[in-house]
Amino acid sequence: MPQDASTARQVRVLMVCLGNICRSPSAQGVLEKLIENQGLQHLVEVDSAGTGDWHLGEAPDSRSVTAAAARGYEIDHLRARQVERHDFTRFDYILCMDRSNLSTVRELCPRAHRSKLQLLMDYGDSSHDTVPDPYYSGAQGFELVLDLLEDACDRFLAHLRDEHLDEQAEPAG
Ligand code: 4NP
Repeated sequence: MPQDASTARQVRVLMVCLGNICRSPSAQGVLEKLIENQGLQHLVEVDSAGTGDWHLGEAPDSRSVTAAAARGYEIDHLRARQVERHDFTRFDYILCMDRSNLSTVRELCPRAHRSKLQLLMDYGDSSHDTVPDPYYSGAQGFELVLDLLEDACDRFLAHLRDEHLDEQAEPAG
């Protein structure tokens, strides 16, 4: 299990998809915005990575950037990177967008850290069990991704607050 609330270090969350240019940078942007809105920046760190290496160093897909910006999420500064071995020790939660991503990281992950691996949609409303890859879809695919991410990230952050953060959150106002 990640992180004991009595230790004051950050909870670290890694979002994972295939290319790290559509779903996981969007998930990072959505969760970071929720964290900022709730005054939890000092406690929760978010990053994202891909299992593939086709887009290393690239900015997110312009369709993701546009769809995210329309909802107030700035993600164009992010750059794609690949999941690396160090991620399994560094991060407390490693949240995958689909079962293929999960299966790939499970093979890479040392046994001692496998409990950190989950599907992000385990925290969703159960209408979808994975975040579908929008890469070959139209604009509605990118909107669906954001709908799913907003719901799941909101519930995931509520989980973090319950499990780890309530006593450390900054008072509102
Ligand atoms: P992502 O989407 O995994 O959500 O970043 C994709 C991006 C690129 C490719 C596939 C999925 N690709 O095949 O290059």
